[in-house]
Amino acid sequence: MQDKRVFVTRKIPQIGLDMLHEHFSVTVNPHDRPLTKDELIDGVKDAHGLLCLLNDEITYDVMQAAPNLKVITNYAVGYNNIDVSAANEKGIYVTNTPGVLTDATADLAWALLLSVSRRVVEGDIYTRAGRFTGWGPMLLLGGAVAGKTLGIVGMGRIGQAVAQRATGFNMNILYHDIEPVESAEKAYSAKYTDLHDLLNQSDYVSLHAPLTDETHHMIGAEQLGMMKQTAYLINSARGPLVDEKALVEALKNGTIAGAGLDVYEDEPELAPGLIELPNVVLLPHLGSATSETRNQMAKMVAENITAALKGDTPANLVPE
Ligand code: GLV
Ligand code: GLV
Repeated sequence: MQDKRVFVTRKIPQIGLDMLHEHFSVTVNPHDRPLTKDELIDGVKDAHGLLCLLNDEITYDVMQAAPNLKVITNYAVGYNNIDVSAANEKGIYVTNTPGVLTDATADLAWALLLSVSRRVVEGDIYTRAGRFTGWGPMLLLGGAVAGKTLGIVGMGRIGQAVAQRATGFNMNILYHDIEPVESAEKAYSAKYTDLHDLLNQSDYVSLHAPLTDETHHMIGAEQLGMMKQTAYLINSARGPLVDEKALVEALKNGTIAGAGLDVYEDEPELAPGLIELPNVVLLPHLGSATSETRNQMAKMVAENITAALKGDTPANLVPE
């Protein structure tokens, strides 16, 4: 299959690239930055397989420019960056990396939750600045976690892994999804509610829904207004689930107590005002960023491309 060409839009862990080099002629973006659209089209035009990232927009015209393309494999679980219906129309497989990043992403959602509620980042900055003069009864008081209510929006694999961790913190769990998830109710005593009640009753709201036309801006000014003034919003899913400008206002005005964000509406740009706010913890999209998980993702994308270009159905096709 050395006659088949694979284009890789950004260097991924070597283990996956080595697997691809065994079978294919592989070209990797030589720059340590995302490609421009022209560079992407230029790279993919002769390729049979495309390995892309969540920040590569794989639109109809990109596919149109690549007549040999058989498979688009996304190095991510979310695949809102790919026009899947255009790919289906053209008979191009689309795959993602489900499962292998569930724990890493759930851990990171928890890292954000604990960081913002217990003011970990503020405390670190305070200490490094030499301002720590001894234990203080009123110093950097945060919000409790044990016994509080966690509202999970999107009870897929990652939402369930977040719920599992919450049971160890003795939290009550509410969740919202398109339909009830019985296994989560049994395993974590999670209660199904509509979004309104979830926002109204939760002390922490954590987003784990995919980005679609329906979920775009599912949390806007109105929804933030339904949350408790003492509540925190955690987003480790996709930035555009939240109206980021409305969130900045809500954090400024005390509509909610704080937020922990790993993702942004217009990455890598941040909404004006966000970085000035002390009550938000900001991470640069690190959900799946452990060495272990990234190696597993790299193997998975290599296996999916290899299967597709051998004429088999790849294991991780995305739902239509
Ligand atoms: C990360 O954001 C992913 O979807 O894998
Ligand atoms: C992703 O793995 C999800 O289903 O939440």
